[in-house]
Amino acid sequence: MLKLGSRNLVSLRDLLVKKLSLHNNRGLSTSHTASRYRLKDKVALITGAATGIGKATASEFISNGAKVVIADIQSKLGQATTSELGPNATFISCDVTQESDVAAAVDFTVAQYGHLDIMFNNVGISGFTPFSIVDLNLKDFDLVINTNVRGVIAGIKHASRVMIPQRSGSILCTASVAGVIGGLAPATYSISKFAIIGTVKSVAAELSRYGIRVNCISPFVTATAFVLEEMAMMFPGVEASRLVQIAHSVGKFEGANCETLDIAKAALYLGSDDAKYVSGHNLVVDGGFSSFKSLDFAAPDQVAN
Ligand SMILES: NC(=O)c1ccc[n+]([C@@H]2O[C@H](COP(=O)([O-])OP(=O)(O)OC[C@H]3O[C@@H](n4cnc5c(N)ncnc54)[C@H](O)[C@@H]3O)[C@@H](O)[C@H]2O)c1
Repeated sequence: MLKLGSRNLVSLRDLLVKKLSLHNNRGLSTSHTASRYRLKDKVALITGAATGIGKATASEFISNGAKVVIADIQSKLGQATTSELGPNATFISCDVTQESDVAAAVDFTVAQYGHLDIMFNNVGISGFTPFSIVDLNLKDFDLVINTNVRGVIAGIKHASRVMIPQRSGSILCTASVAGVIGGLAPATYSISKFAIIGTVKSVAAELSRYGIRVNCISPFVTATAFVLEEMAMMFPGVEASRLVQIAHSVGKFEGANCETLDIAKAALYLGSDDAKYVSGHNLVVDGGFSSFKSLDFAAPDQVAN
């Protein structure tokens, strides 16, 4: 066995530290140069991207060098969004509750651009189900589950069909803070989002063998059409700008609100090679909301002896 004196040990350690820092610096400079276009040469398919979080993500992906296919049930709006986002955006009409539509969207993307690197299963509906389970019409429950869960499963299935032979890919899904803790939304919606977080972990187990990452993002309340429509029902006649203020007021993080760009940036990270070893993860973007509860003691002057 090789015996080293303490002087030799010190110089060996110095050498290793130098080599390591050279290696790390090389890594740093590479990621620094690549950081301007983090999705250069990548192709993404985003469902529900005619508006809201999906649209913001499509825009962020394109700014980072990606080609993006927008798949949405709203054709007119989807086409308008595509024109707004420029030549690197393409639209395909798609209802995620129809597996054949989802399969066709995946095939269209591959036919158009040659491959599929990022599949973002982002569609979700609230379904406007009642807060009390006693009043729940199970047909409404089925519609939410068909859209929010089955639609996502269809997306994962058909993306995997083309990503497995590639031996690479990043699959993202939109869950919700309402899938992390109960009571924030009607049970039906929460159940659908809890299922997404479970789906991601379950499917990551298989797909990691093929170099395919599967993750989800759980946004906090974000003032999109999705939220504003619900709030308009809760506060009839109140102006949209006021509804946005009310939506922002429920956050617990001082000095910032949850915006579509925050979710888009989370998707950019998970979609890019920066997250090359991240899979089965739920990236919660909620300003810490679901991480803590506060003890709301009464103010001292309100407590009698
Ligand atoms: N906005 C929030 O506060 C919030 C919070 C947590 C999670 N989310 C989730 O984020 C995702 C996006 O929400 P958003 O706020 O951007 O909503 P949004 O309503 O602004 O946009 C959703 C898009 O999905 C499309 N869509 C709806 N049903 C479809 C279907 N069957 N097939 C294809 N497209 C369909 C709509 O046309 C729309 O363009 C959803 O999964 C939602 O559950 C939103």
